[in-house]
Amino acid sequence: MRYELAPMEGVTTYLYRRCYHTHFVPMDRYFTPFIAPNMNQGLNAKERRDVLPEHNAGLPLVPQILTNRADHFLTTCRDLEALGYGEVNLNLGCPSGTVVSKGKGSGFLARYDELRAFLDEIFSRCPLRISIKTRVGRADQADWPRLLDLYRQYPCAELIVHPRIQKDFYRGAPRMDAFALAEAEAPWPLVYNGDLFTRRGIAEISRAHPGVETVMLGRGVISNPWLIGGTPDKAVLRDFHDELFDGYRGILYGDGPVLCKMKGVWAYLIQRFTNYAPYQKIIRKTRRLSEYQSTVNALFHNEDLIPDAGFQPEP
Ligand SMILES: Cc1cc2nc3c(=O)[nH]c(=O)nc-3n(C[C@H](O)[C@H](O)[C@H](O)COP(=O)(O)O)c2cc1C
Repeated sequence: MRYELAPMEGVTTYLYRRCYHTHFVPMDRYFTPFIAPNMNQGLNAKERRDVLPEHNAGLPLVPQILTNRADHFLTTCRDLEALGYGEVNLNLGCPSGTVVSKGKGSGFLARYDELRAFLDEIFSRCPLRISIKTRVGRADQADWPRLLDLYRQYPCAELIVHPRIQKDFYRGAPRMDAFALAEAEAPWPLVYNGDLFTRRGIAEISRAHPGVETVMLGRGVISNPWLIGGTPDKAVLRDFHDELFDGYRGILYGDGPVLCKMKGVWAYLIQRFTNYAPYQKIIRKTRRLSEYQSTVNALFHNEDLIPDAGFQPEP
């Protein structure tokens, strides 16, 4: 099995990716959170920092683009090509209301003719390989067979399927019947993404879908960095945490932004610890680095790791 780290806005930054890569079993590929180009530019300053080769040394990285404008997509690809990238990923999955209302992300899935014109243009003019990350419809899973027929017309580097529709957000069971449909006559390498939270879960996907050679992991691996291998070790996790925390303190100004980034990781990682509830409450609420640090110290000192126990999304 090959493994890819899912793009997660606010969580899988270059610092996170680098710290993960050096402390745990490395992923085969990493994806950046989405780059959202606009009229004036391909990459903004923050997006450029995230893809700079010197920030991603030694990591196989695919930048992700979120747009419904072929010209914006192609301009961004030129910037990325100049930085040395050979592949980009198109986001056709984002379920956020503001993105969908503009016809981007999973909102683009409901605009079939526009999507076809967009794909025609980018696949004929983009010098880079293009992979697609998609949901299985916007408002209705009934759209999926037609979308699959459309995707089959293009030489996707890979098709990453998160088998939910927009209104599912990240809740409810993945629609495995829709995923199975993608397997039939798949001309591109097919990647499964969604709710893989334990090693057993990954093994089951592999058993049920022998044609799938790659899975993309998001919340599961943030929650359990040993999901794809290795032995849980509190000292290693502490080093990882400290490197990430120090990294953010080095590049962000003020307690708030640093805490925001660390809280984004703890939203998942906290479940790795025994009796985590009281610590979770403080970490969620705190506005002070000193309180954050004493809480994290107490958590590591007082509690143990629970290996491979999965991850429970909030209801
Ligand atoms: C906080 C958060 C941020 C995300 N940001 C992105 C993103 O920038 N691009 C994208 O394609 N998917 C994004 N996703 C979706 C994930 O890549 C992934 O598809 C989703 O979490 C399901 O996989 P999982 O069950 O392994 O977590 C995000 C998900 C979460 C929870």
